[in-house]
Amino acid sequence: MKVGLIGWRGMVGSVLLQRMQEENDFAGIEPVFFSTSQAGQPAPMNAGTLKDASDIAELKKLDVILTCQGGDYTKAIHPELRKTGWQGYWIDAASTLRMEPNAVIILDPVNRNVIDAALAKGQKDFIGGNCTVSLMLMALGGLFRAGLVEWITSMTYQAASGAGAPNMRELLSQMGVLHGSVAELLKNPSSAILDIDRQVTATLRSDALPTKEFGAPLAGNVLPWIDREVEDGQSREEWKGYAETNKILGTTTPIPVDGICVRVSAMRCHSQALTIKLNKDVPIADIENLIKNDNQWVKFVPNTKADSLANLTPAAVSGSLTVPIGRVRKMKMGPQYLSAFTCGDQLLWGAAEPLRRMLRVLLE
Ligand code: HSE
Repeated sequence: MKVGLIGWRGMVGSVLLQRMQEENDFAGIEPVFFSTSQAGQPAPMNAGTLKDASDIAELKKLDVILTCQGGDYTKAIHPELRKTGWQGYWIDAASTLRMEPNAVIILDPVNRNVIDAALAKGQKDFIGGNCTVSLMLMALGGLFRAGLVEWITSMTYQAASGAGAPNMRELLSQMGVLHGSVAELLKNPSSAILDIDRQVTATLRSDALPTKEFGAPLAGNVLPWIDREVEDGQSREEWKGYAETNKILGTTTPIPVDGICVRVSAMRCHSQALTIKLNKDVPIADIENLIKNDNQWVKFVPNTKADSLANLTPAAVSGSLTVPIGRVRKMKMGPQYLSAFTCGDQLLWGAAEPLRRMLRVLLE
């Protein structure tokens, strides 16, 4: 299989390439590396020279295109290429095509049945899901599979990486400016904490913090709005929860999913607090078993402070494929109401991993 890689130098693309190397995915394919700006220069892995990512004739020679180049590229190239009659597989991290009727949102540990049915029908566009949605489904796959979920609300704590690499840098720069503004006071153990706080707040409200990417301070702050408004006061990130969850699962009767998406000062792990309304009262031990036996990456964290702080945080999960879920208990609202907290690497299961696994599915 001739597989074209586009956008492999960016953040998600780099994670994808690294994962493909770790899993020896290149053994089964002939990789062709593309570039939007450096065609003709040497490609990585001794794979000849970089081809021009806008060269439709070159793209047409491929069996599979794997792109992390972003939505603008997809918007410009995908229709052009399909217009020529190209019948290859298009695997994409961008959201552009997700809700198209011909596209499948890929998360094979959860929806391999949907993927297989689409392949059997000859569908060719396979698109990675929104990171928060994919991570929620990796954690809760067992409850969905058992048909127990009546509705879910997800209150998210989303990392800077979801907004892009420059945003991660900006967050760290903001942290540095905040610290710098009180570094002298901090050195003195007898300085008054309210003086320190006053100075930090003044810095947060001043022009001293770089805010070009986020448009606001994220360090020392939380931002309760991600992406643009869709309708009825709902942000696009919140809208995706319902739309994509149901598309991934292939539900016939949609399961309501809604909540508030919030940016916090984590680097690359999205967390979410979930309230789940079950459609019947299920003992907590059964719930635990359903969750932990669903896939090999989900990890059930006992509902104790020590376990939660050790295993259920961005610091614990960053860079790993493990998706911990904990704080699971019945809520005071009644026996059908479950709380949970989950956390996962936004660049792995949230972006790169479903793409490389889709390539593997095609190679089976
Ligand atoms: N839209 C997500 C975020 C990342 O802003 O965190 C990509 O799915």
